[in-house]
Amino acid sequence: MSKISIIGAGNVGASCAEYIAMKNFAAEVVLLDIKENFAEGKALDLMQTASLNGFDSRISGSTSDYSKTANSNVIVVTSGIPRKPGMTREELIGINAGIVKTVVLSCLEHSPNAIFVIVSNPMDTMTQLTKQILGIPKHRIIGMGGALDSARFKHYLSSALSCPPSDVDAMVIGGHGDTTMIPLLRLASYKGVPVSQLLSKEVLDKVKADTMVGGATLTAMLGTSAWYAPGAAVSALVQSIVCDQKKMMTCCVYLDGEYGEFDICIGVPVILGKGGWERIVALSLKDDEKAEFQKSALAVRSMNAAL
Ligand code: NAI
Ligand code: 2OP
Repeated sequence: MSKISIIGAGNVGASCAEYIAMKNFAAEVVLLDIKENFAEGKALDLMQTASLNGFDSRISGSTSDYSKTANSNVIVVTSGIPRKPGMTREELIGINAGIVKTVVLSCLEHSPNAIFVIVSNPMDTMTQLTKQILGIPKHRIIGMGGALDSARFKHYLSSALSCPPSDVDAMVIGGHGDTTMIPLLRLASYKGVPVSQLLSKEVLDKVKADTMVGGATLTAMLGTSAWYAPGAAVSALVQSIVCDQKKMMTCCVYLDGEYGEFDICIGVPVILGKGGWERIVALSLKDDEKAEFQKSALAVRSMNAAL
């Protein structure tokens, strides 16, 4: 059993803690926040659901006391400001870079062997920043974005197909941004049947467009960014790591020549196990998909230049 610390006990952090507890795969979950008593309150509230929901994970909270996170197997970083309506993820860069830098350095001091899962936006840039400042093996730094975007892609596909989302297989690669993500329509399938055989080009184009603005649509509706699907995506990713499930998910990882890119953290399919991201899955992309990936990498690089 494992210890998981979640930094930032806001919407995404608390939702992630709840899903992790409900799946009962972690012995200990620590929530930490800068706001006085906030993480303690969330932890207490969640612990009072344990007898009702039947989980045994111990959830505790802390106000900025990083010693409570000591010897975590996984650190999830959700601290920072979220998007407000009309804001892009990229606009968060200045504030969140300062927060993420302090947080990951404090966490590493107490958990030198932890695997870091970065959620704070702009996530690709925050993952690159973490890679630059921590100096730990690249396999232990993972950005979460593509798993969420892929779940949204499956949702829109299943609506168009009138089928359960679990019958759909699909993935989004590239950056975690409205214009940088790449929903791979060619590889999407309904129980093994390519969706291109089942849906018109017009419908597929709409599914792709809806997926790409999936986060912005929710931000406009909720007044802040979403948390249920982000929390569930983080929890699925963490479960694959701590339970060594070897699931394939799109994650933002450091590329060293894979997909033709060097020195960039961006979303590609990886296998997740106890070593973090254990290997990158090399997809045979068509020329147009390769061009989309290059364009996405260029946009992520230009955002990273603001660091
Ligand atoms: P939120 O505002 O509900 O929670 C953020 C929490 O971070 C707050 O409780 C705040 O007090 C805390 N915090 C701020 N500075 C801190 C510090 N130095 N140390 C510890 N805690 C600190 O925001 P929400 O909705 O939970 O989003 C969190 C981040 O995750 C945002 O940057 C958001 O854009 C991002 N996000 C990323 C997604 C992804 O797919 N990568 C999906 C959804 C959100
Ligand atoms: C989302 O995709 C804003 O990254 C956040 O919901």
